[in-house]
Amino acid sequence: MERVISRDEAWQLLIEHTTNPSLIKHALAVEAAMRAEARRVGEDESVWGVVGLVHDFDYEQNPTPETHLHVGTRILSDRGWPESMIRAIAAHADYMGVPRDSEMARALYAVDELTGFLTACALVRPDKSIAAVEVKSVRKKLKDKAFARSVSREDVRRGAEELGIDLDEHIAFVRDAMAGIADALELPPPAA
Ligand SMILES: [Fe+2]
Ligand SMILES: [Fe+2]
Repeated sequence: MERVISRDEAWQLLIEHTTNPSLIKHALAVEAAMRAEARRVGEDESVWGVVGLVHDFDYEQNPTPETHLHVGTRILSDRGWPESMIRAIAAHADYMGVPRDSEMARALYAVDELTGFLTACALVRPDKSIAAVEVKSVRKKLKDKAFARSVSREDVRRGAEELGIDLDEHIAFVRDAMAGIADALELPPPAA
């Protein structure tokens, strides 16, 4: 029988390997987006959420393509995590050569870079509100190569395409999922 991974086990694994607050917030943002994606397609929210929460758990200690995920997936295997979760996690980096052959893997890839980009969009607002970020302004910033230049525009575009969802819709959907945990992300609601 496949082992069921609790949210608590995933959280412990994450903080055992990660101290950088930005990486923790990234994990929480991707978790929230993954839970929302699972709900959207009628899949298991807790499984998808856990995958989102831990997808970069080895990154702080292994930040290169030669190590990130190579190390992490081995740790997950050793701990008996289900293969379907490990594959979806591995598949968020093209260099791992693992095909995104599940809906969960495609969702992870589609939300990963976008959560980072949306965070950057919120942070340049005076109120830093994620909920108030408009799709129109996100699209404009995607065209501005100087803005949040570490985010691959191609990954954002391809993520939505692989998921089979319109990019505008996808941006709004992930923004709303992140707005649901705005306090944890320290991107508070706009002042009333
Ligand atoms: Fe990663
Ligand atoms: Fe990530």
